This record gives sequence, C-alpha cells and structure tokens, in this order.
Amino acid sequence: MSYYVTTPIYYVNAQPHLGHAYTTIAADVLARHMRQRGEEVFLLTGTDEHGEPVAQAAEREGVTPKQLADRNAARFEALMPQLEVSNDFFIRTSDPRHGERVQAVMQRVHDNGHTYLGTYEGWYCPRCADFKTENEIGPENTCPIHKIPLDREQEENWFFRLSAFQEPLERLFAERPDFVMPPTRFNEAHAFIRQGLRDVSLSRAKLTWGVPVPWDPGHVFYVWFDALLNYYTALGFARDGDDVTDTFWPPAIQLIGKDILKFHAVYWPALLMAAGLELPRHLFVHGYLLMDGEKMSKSLGNVLDPFEVMERFGTDALRYYCFREVSFGQDGSVSTTGFEARYASELANEYGNLASRTLAMIARYRDGNVPQAATDAVLAADFDGLDAEVAALLDGAELSQALDAIWQRVRRCNRYVEERAPWVLAKDPAQADVLDETLASLAEAVRALSVLLHPYMPSSTATLLDALGRPAVDFAAARYAPHGWGGAIGPLEPLFPKVAER
Ligand code: MSP
Repeated sequence: MSYYVTTPIYYVNAQPHLGHAYTTIAADVLARHMRQRGEEVFLLTGTDEHGEPVAQAAEREGVTPKQLADRNAARFEALMPQLEVSNDFFIRTSDPRHGERVQAVMQRVHDNGHTYLGTYEGWYCPRCADFKTENEIGPENTCPIHKIPLDREQEENWFFRLSAFQEPLERLFAERPDFVMPPTRFNEAHAFIRQGLRDVSLSRAKLTWGVPVPWDPGHVFYVWFDALLNYYTALGFARDGDDVTDTFWPPAIQLIGKDILKFHAVYWPALLMAAGLELPRHLFVHGYLLMDGEKMSKSLGNVLDPFEVMERFGTDALRYYCFREVSFGQDGSVSTTGFEARYASELANEYGNLASRTLAMIARYRDGNVPQAATDAVLAADFDGLDAEVAALLDGAELSQALDAIWQRVRRCNRYVEERAPWVLAKDPAQADVLDETLASLAEAVRALSVLLHPYMPSSTATLLDALGRPAVDFAAARYAPHGWGGAIGPLEPLFPKVAER
C-alpha cells in the first residue's frame, strides 16, 4: 500500500520556529512508522512563497520577493535534516514546475464552470492573507490571530463557486466521519459548512507575486489556492523524470494546525471536487504549542528556538518532548523547565538508564553475551499486543497515546529490574538460570521498545540497537520474542547525558 503524508507548507516571511518543527516531526514519525510496516511512503513538506505577506516583507527589507523566498526557504529546508525529518521532497511554490501544474488544475476548474468574475469587498488580514467572515472579526475590526487592524478592501476578483459545493460537502461529512480528525475539529468544520457557504475570491488583481491566472493573466491566484495545490503538484515533479501522482494520490493523511482548518476541511475538498480529483483519506488537525498561554508565532515574538534546544539536548529529545508534553491534537504549554524535567526524569533516568543498566549487567554477569535463555512469560504478557496497539493508534495519528503505551512498558521494565534485582541473583550460583532469564528478558524488552520508539527518536534508538547487535527496525522486529538471541553486545555511551556534560 502507498502512504502519502503531508505537512502544511510554511510561510517564508517568518523564521522557522518550534511550531513549524512540530507538525513536520509529527508527519515524520508517521512516515517512519509506516516505512517500518513496509508501506511505500512519500512524505512531503515545503514552503509557501507567494502572496501579499511575502511581497510586503520583501519590500520592507528592500529585496525582491524571490530573493526573500530563496533566503528563507533555505532555512526551512536546512531545518529538515537537523530535525531528522526524512521528507521525500521539499516543495517550493515559487518553483515554475509547481506554477505550471497549478495553472493546469485551475484551468480545469475554470473549464468545468466553477469560476466567475465579480467584485469583492471585505475585511482583509494581510498576515493571514485572508478575507474574514463576520464571525471571524475581532474587536474593532482586528484580526483575532494577529491582533492587527484589518483592511477594508475592494477589488475585481475571479471567484470560486464554493457555494455550489454546499451539498457535496455536507454529503462528504455525513458519509465520512473520519475525514477530519479528531472529532472536535470534524464538528467545527461541519458547523462552518452548515452555516452556509459563500463563494470565495480566487485571484488578486493588484499583486504580481504569484501564479498568473491562465485565462486572465492580469490576475494571480489568491495564495491559498496556489498553496493548497502543492500537495498535488509536487508528485508530478518530485522525482526527476518520474511522475508519481498515480502511485501516491490521494494522501493517506494530511497534518495541519487548527488555524488552517477552514482552508483544508472546506475549500480544499471543494477545490478537488471541482477539478475532478480524489479527496485525501484523512485530515488530522493538531492544536497549538503555547508559551505563556499564547500561540507561538513570529508576530507575537515569543518563540522557543528549536535550533538551540537541539544543540543543547539533541534532536531526539526535542522530538520526544513535543509529543510527550502536549497530547497531539490538543493545545498545550511547552517550556524550557518542562523540557529539562522530562529530559532528566524520562529520557535519562527511565529509558537511558534502562538501556545502560541492561547492557552493563550483561557485560558484567555474562561476559557481554545476551543469554540464549527463554524470556520471562510474566514480562511477555505485559508486552503482548503492544505492537498492534501502537500500530492501531498511529493509524489514527494518535502520536501521544502510542508514545504513552510504549512508555508504560519502559517503566514496567525498570520495575522489573528492581523486582528481579540481578545483582542479588548474581551472587548465588543456584540462581544462574533465573539470572539468564532476567537478562535475556531485559535485552529483548529494551530491543523491542527501541524498535517501537524508533520513529520518534531515530538516532538514539539506532545507537542502542547497534550496541545490542540487533539493528533491525522493521515492524516485525517490534514483537517481544520468547527467546534471548544469544549474541554479543557492544559498548554504549549514555544516550541522554547530563546537559552540563555536553
Ligand atoms: N502557509 C500556510 C499553510 C499553507 S498549507 C497549504 C501557513 N503557514 S505557517 O507558516 O503559518 O504555518 C502553519 C502551520 O505551522 C500550522 O498549521 C501548524 O501546523 C504549524 N504551527 C505554526 N505555529 C504553531 C504553534 N505555535 N503550534 C503548533 N503548530 C503551529 O499557515
């Protein structure tokens, strides 16, 4: 089966921050997990480069929009390997190959009769690049997201007949209750549709920084239409000389933040229907990472720098923290103190320590060889079904619940060490078999847990699995086996050293 997963494409008028990293890491966890399961995966991320906000930012800096886009897109692109994100492609909407495909799809929408020329007047937020509907306007005509005054704008625009999709969208929501997940977001989008849909502006006449409308080249497409289509256009040129659209379309899941729900759950399916394209199977909407109770964003100036966190604590720790601290799908606060506490108590003391004490005891009591003994049935029972549980949770993009299910077993193993007290067993030759069973069980448990944790923390789990001499990370290897494998282990540096030591 093919599994196509996407992130939103990020605006290039801001610096990358933890909010952007968050969605991208989530998509990467899913992509890595599905690769473990043998699926043919395509992970797409990229940058949204057209539109008024970028044109304005460039003007403020005295550069062309393309220069600004080149500079800032490079920062987003460089972020991916640092985050250990295994994206298959990085799309930039200023790529002419994207523009050509946008024009081809939109021409079809036009030919199918879903557009018309009209006049638009409304309250417009230049930062959102969006006209606001009446109930989206904050006090004194401000943008509730950016807290800046809205502009009253009027111009001749091409319109998309969104209203004509009222019924098809209602049917979609009636037939596919998991089209948008989690259910609270489904309900929110559904309610928006039921309020009655109005046609939306499709083009801008004043702007030149965008994809020209092929049937009226004095206009460029409104940035959201150009941007949404990236998910489709990328597959046409991501692999040089090879159009992989048929292999991967439609997306299995598209991850978005709750701020862009309307565009993805309402405009996007309507646009695809208008173009005669298949709809994504699922949209998953996550919440905001908050600092001091406000959404992190460039405009609010309260940015937690992912680069700094990664430099001090490592990428895996950042990846872990994002899904451990805040339940994926909900809003939640992140902080440096919260991060440091989880680093020390969970990564270093629970997982890291379980790994190092297991290896140290095997080195000390069994000359560095994992006993070939049968593993403990009691511990096996605690692992029974864990792989299937994690797979089922990740099928629904429940990243935090899956991580929690794994972590309960990390804790279980630490209790097991205390219960069995191998250092006591080692003193009594009559207990040699029990010690064999204990060490074989712990090695096997640590191995299986590391395979399950691999999508979240690719590098430290790989280091540990290498030290165990069992590097396989395919999903079959996530099952706790009934026997110790009997191989030699290697040395292991602390996976999560005290930060002062770094
Ligand atoms: N360019 C549009 C999306 C177009 S998709 C066809 C856009 N870009 S953005 O740079 O503002 O980034 C949007 C996404 O970044 C959000 O939907 C969300 O996924 C992520 N986040 C940005 N700030 C965030 C937080 N503080 N917390 C969690 N995610 C956040 O909108």
